[in-house]
Amino acid sequence: MLRNLKFVTAILAIISGTVAQNAFEGAIGFGAVSTGGNGGTVVTVTNLEDSGAGSFRDAVSQSNRIINFAVAGYIVLKSPVSLSSHITINGQSAPSPGIGVMAGEISASGKNNIVIRNFRMRQGNLDKQTGKSAFNMGESSNIILDHCSVAYGQWDSIDAVKAVNITVSNSIIAFPIGQQFGAHIEGGPATLYGNLWVSAHNRQPLTKSNTQYINNIVYNYQAAYTTAETSGYFSHDILNNYFITGPSTTNPSNYYYQMNEKQSVYAHGNYADTKNDGVLAGALENKVGSAVVLDAAWDPTSVGLAKLTALEAYTAVLASAGASPRDEVDAFAVSTVKTLGKSGVIYTNQASTGLSNGGYGTL
Ligand SMILES: *[C@@H]1O[C@H](CO)[C@@H](O)[C@H](O)[C@H]1NC(C)=O
Repeated sequence: MLRNLKFVTAILAIISGTVAQNAFEGAIGFGAVSTGGNGGTVVTVTNLEDSGAGSFRDAVSQSNRIINFAVAGYIVLKSPVSLSSHITINGQSAPSPGIGVMAGEISASGKNNIVIRNFRMRQGNLDKQTGKSAFNMGESSNIILDHCSVAYGQWDSIDAVKAVNITVSNSIIAFPIGQQFGAHIEGGPATLYGNLWVSAHNRQPLTKSNTQYINNIVYNYQAAYTTAETSGYFSHDILNNYFITGPSTTNPSNYYYQMNEKQSVYAHGNYADTKNDGVLAGALENKVGSAVVLDAAWDPTSVGLAKLTALEAYTAVLASAGASPRDEVDAFAVSTVKTLGKSGVIYTNQASTGLSNGGYGTL
């Protein structure tokens, strides 16, 4: 019976092309089951203050809300913001040039059913809490981030330890400082789709979880797709990604890192360009460490999601990943990638980027 159910579910997933989808039209992956603030009250953020009436902190303080923005610019956080369950954050509702937070962590820790779209989270070292991340969804469930921009995380850019049913799609995850890490995922299942990862030491992601990793572009890594010596047994669909080395890359073959025989992998269509020569001309790299090779994707939706080749993903992701409209930090991240090996720094602080507003860029 269970076998049959699984089979029917797989067929339905193939017909629809995605998993169950509640978050928003076009939502993909395991986090697409998130219902966010659907059916709740629309609350509009009317100022950029850290707290008080009309602030973002106040707006997210209660469940069953859809958060819209009547203001643009950075909200400078004085302390972490803890989101409530069952909320949708519609950054795309903000007037141009868009909305973001700086100097503190956004936390979905312990919460469930959250949708975040078109939102910038740039912690940086104005946050004195170095053990915090730009976005934390530890012990959460049913979370989707789409077209978000995450930068200058101190602990991780995205911390997702013990997070269940998560998607990070079409986002820019750049320039982590502090530990200089991208995303730490444990729990899962997790979908990472169409993201641009720029200049990190490691964890792009570190995943101790069953994972879909599709159409990602990783630039100037020291290590990219990673499990850990302490990992349990997990499955990974790694499809049509492009790994591109930069000046900080010390060991180019660490596009797959610590992928041992405890891991089972279905890897196809992945390219690595390790020449640092300003031209994109990579080679197929589908041998993932000493991982066990799977004959088919562990999740039946993965192949359907991998519509773009790695080369097509490079063009599409550079054109449209991250929050829209694209701002100074994201434009810098993309232009860094476009040097294709000529420039790129793994930073220790945001100011070293030389961007305006102490490195946070001007919104
Ligand atoms: C995760 O999503 C599946 C559907 O894909 C659902 O059955 C399960 O309950 C979800 N887990 C949690 C913790 O909500």
